Amino acid sequence: MTDTDAPTTGPTTGPITGPTTGPITGPTTGPITGPTTGPIVGPAGGQITDPLPGPDGGDEPLRFGPNAFDADPEALAHPQPGYTEMRETTPVMRIPDGPIVLTRHDDVMFALKNPELFSSVNAIEIGNIRPLIPLQIDPPDHVKYRRLLDPIFAPREMAKLEPKVRALVNDLIDEFIERGECEFSADLAIPLPCRVFLEILGLPIEHLDRFLRWKDDIIRPAVESMDEAKVVQHEAGQAIYDYFSPVISDRRANPRDDLITLFVQAEIDGHNLDDDEVADICFLMMIAGLDTVTATLTCSISNLAQHAERRDAIVADLGLVPAAVEELMRWETPVPALPRRATQDIEMRGETIKAGENVVCLLGSANIDPAEFPKPDDIDFTRSGNRHLSFGGGVHRCLGSHLARLELRVAMEEIHRRMPDYAIKAGERPVYTSGLRAVEYLPLVFSAGSRVGSGSRA
Ligand code: HEM
Repeated sequence: MTDTDAPTTGPTTGPITGPTTGPITGPTTGPITGPTTGPIVGPAGGQITDPLPGPDGGDEPLRFGPNAFDADPEALAHPQPGYTEMRETTPVMRIPDGPIVLTRHDDVMFALKNPELFSSVNAIEIGNIRPLIPLQIDPPDHVKYRRLLDPIFAPREMAKLEPKVRALVNDLIDEFIERGECEFSADLAIPLPCRVFLEILGLPIEHLDRFLRWKDDIIRPAVESMDEAKVVQHEAGQAIYDYFSPVISDRRANPRDDLITLFVQAEIDGHNLDDDEVADICFLMMIAGLDTVTATLTCSISNLAQHAERRDAIVADLGLVPAAVEELMRWETPVPALPRRATQDIEMRGETIKAGENVVCLLGSANIDPAEFPKPDDIDFTRSGNRHLSFGGGVHRCLGSHLARLELRVAMEEIHRRMPDYAIKAGERPVYTSGLRAVEYLPLVFSAGSRVGSGSRA
């Protein structure tokens, strides 16, 4: 067990101290230079760039940087050794002129469970002009939004979507099953979550391409400098606000059976959400719900395609799928890092984090910390008590986890049922991206099969 529920009992003057279990192994004097293996990943995986002093006296919020075309492909594909080196040598790592990175499971949990010390407000900027709801709202207001949103995304509600999600998955597989090959990312993993998103928000399927473009512009802008990235992200952000504004007005006037209608009808403290609040929820859902599922699916299938024994275990027993989804999420950690901002001076393992400084919780490292996961480097579909942090932790734990799990389970079931001998195409290799940890190029071959024609688009 970790001290995940540890109350914040630090001294009232001087720096607050974090969990103290385990030896303090970070250097205490001199410049801290971290291990050099693997890129340091930033908020949700982007390259960390140097933050400038912000207007409130603290750091500038972190943001996704330009797509790192020159990043080491090996480190992108296998970040785990780099995480382990960081955790073992400098568990609380100060990046020169950059954020402080927490790598141990108990330190990460401490940060996530104490939002009054590690705030989400202004911790990341993704082209938004107002706080993302509920991600950038701290308690106590945060709970009002979650009380409203949690029932909408509850397991029972999400389960109703299963037939539709299964039909969407089968339609996508139909498009390539007769060929005996596909580029898994473009042919299945990218369109699936976007189609589900459009479906539940009641938006036209014809708008798929523009949503994909906007989320790519925000998460991995195809530019070379941070200044250019900022411009592209702001243009995409403005386009998202412009898109949702008339849709929200329309749903107020003409309610429908979709989530935007539920949002406009929802009440907090006796008031309906206003148009800006609804737009801020939709903006976040789009960024939080599209790339994450794509990233998880591509990382998982890439792993299995390169380890036929794991793939075959699932094919032999589709009942293994839920456990395999969780274990692959733990190992791959597609959202490898979460941004936070210290609200006051906090001492952790000998390092003083100053009020206003950016902090990065390295989920990818916490998920392979042997203090929490016995034999963390074994990918074990029978692992018990797999309390991975891939959906985060504390009050901001993923709102969409039940939807994500549904999409992942159904996709994995249908893939292993319909194309059980899939493998990486000979002579090719998967290409991993920076930004979220996804596989942007995943060429697969398998025995050709027949279409099933589920007719989800009918
Ligand atoms: C496998 C897919 C997914 C992964 C790995 C994932 C991961 C995460 C993580 C790590 C957080 C915590 C962020 C933080 O504390 O800073 C989070 C929050 C969130 N996620 Fe997901 N997510 C996934 C899918 C989704 C989907 C499909 C939705 C759509 C509804 C969604 C909506 C959200 C929202 C709204 C939050 C903010 C919750 C809050 O602040 O209270 N996520 N997600």
